[in-house]
Amino acid sequence: MGVSHDQVHSTRVVVLVGLMGSGKSSVGRRLAQSMRLDFYDTDEMVASATKKSVRELFAEGESVFRSHERDALVDALERASKGSGVVATGGGVVTVPQNVADIQSHASAVVWLDADVEELVARTSSGTHRPLLDGGARGKLEEMHRERRSLYESLATLRVSTKGRSIASITELIATQLGSVA
Ligand code: S3P
Repeated sequence: MGVSHDQVHSTRVVVLVGLMGSGKSSVGRRLAQSMRLDFYDTDEMVASATKKSVRELFAEGESVFRSHERDALVDALERASKGSGVVATGGGVVTVPQNVADIQSHASAVVWLDADVEELVARTSSGTHRPLLDGGARGKLEEMHRERRSLYESLATLRVSTKGRSIASITELIATQLGSVA
């Protein structure tokens, strides 16, 4: 990636990570508004670059989706590093080591939205656009919770428990922690 460290430190790049249903896109959009930063959502970027849904890409193979997701992440980090921005990632972005390295080298803050399985089940129950939850959302979310928790934990510079908090209050908490006015 072609962004120097000087640029990174004079800008504000906030990356949101966490499991699917933890609220990254909703919080990210709101946080960007309140901090007057640009907003990037890697799932949306993948969909608009490929003109395909996440489900269609997964039907071609998870590696196909991950490769587009990586391109979107690199693009989002580079663009955010040139100005300033909030980047909402897909829950599985941390499963690719090079993604983790790029987030670490570009982000001024990595915020982990830490939600428990009950919340995640409730928040993902209405949509059908998440192919990894086919065949039993609860079991799949429990498995991802176990497998990915330590990845989010080691990458995060700020952990926010989402339990019992609205999107608005999570956003406000993050903005306050990051030293801005919500
Ligand atoms: C995924 C999370 C999804 C999306 C895809 C795979 C994952 O994003 O990228 O379905 O592996 O956890 P959200 O976390 O925004 O739902």
